[in-house]
Amino acid sequence: VVNNRMSNYLMQKLEEQGVPTHYVEECNERDTLVKKVEIVPLEVIIRNKACGSFSKRYGVAEGTELSIPTIEFSYKNDALGDPMINDMQITAIGIATIQELKTITESALKINELMKKFFIERDIILVDFKIEFGKYQNKIILADEVSPDTCRLWDANTKQKLDKDRFRRDLGGVEEAYEEVWKRIISK
Ligand code: TMP
Repeated sequence: VVNNRMSNYLMQKLEEQGVPTHYVEECNERDTLVKKVEIVPLEVIIRNKACGSFSKRYGVAEGTELSIPTIEFSYKNDALGDPMINDMQITAIGIATIQELKTITESALKINELMKKFFIERDIILVDFKIEFGKYQNKIILADEVSPDTCRLWDANTKQKLDKDRFRRDLGGVEEAYEEVWKRIISK
């Protein structure tokens, strides 16, 4: 319920700032009407600080500020275990065209800037996040969800985790953290 609310709220805020999204209407607390996209089978991951698999892969301490935001892609394919994939490979096997990938990359960086600002105004650091895009009427739009399930969010003062890492790392207080994020989202 709280993710439905948060994702819809964030999508509307992004839409107001020129990011096309799938959002149409919140039907009730659990259901949302969205544009029926053809999903681009990529997990688009944007990172501002090292954390999670990035820290493990490159041996960079969690919380280290990255000098530029980074983007990486995973090919959404359960049978293959969602392998990491680069721009040329994506184009070579026909997951997205060069132009589509350019649109996705530019949009992802813009979403990062907008969300970073949105969250820091609420004393939350946007560490990293995953988004997905879909094709709708020949246009690439933001789809899927944006919530503490798909973003790493840290309290700006205490660095306390307010996202799904509380569940992934067995830290407890998952629902309280999500409610706290929602409270701060609507505080302004
Ligand atoms: P990672 O550090 O595990 O690669 O995760 C990076 C970000 O992407 C983090 O905010 C969690 C999010 N994410 C998802 O939402 N779904 C996924 O399947 C994965 C692998 C990451």
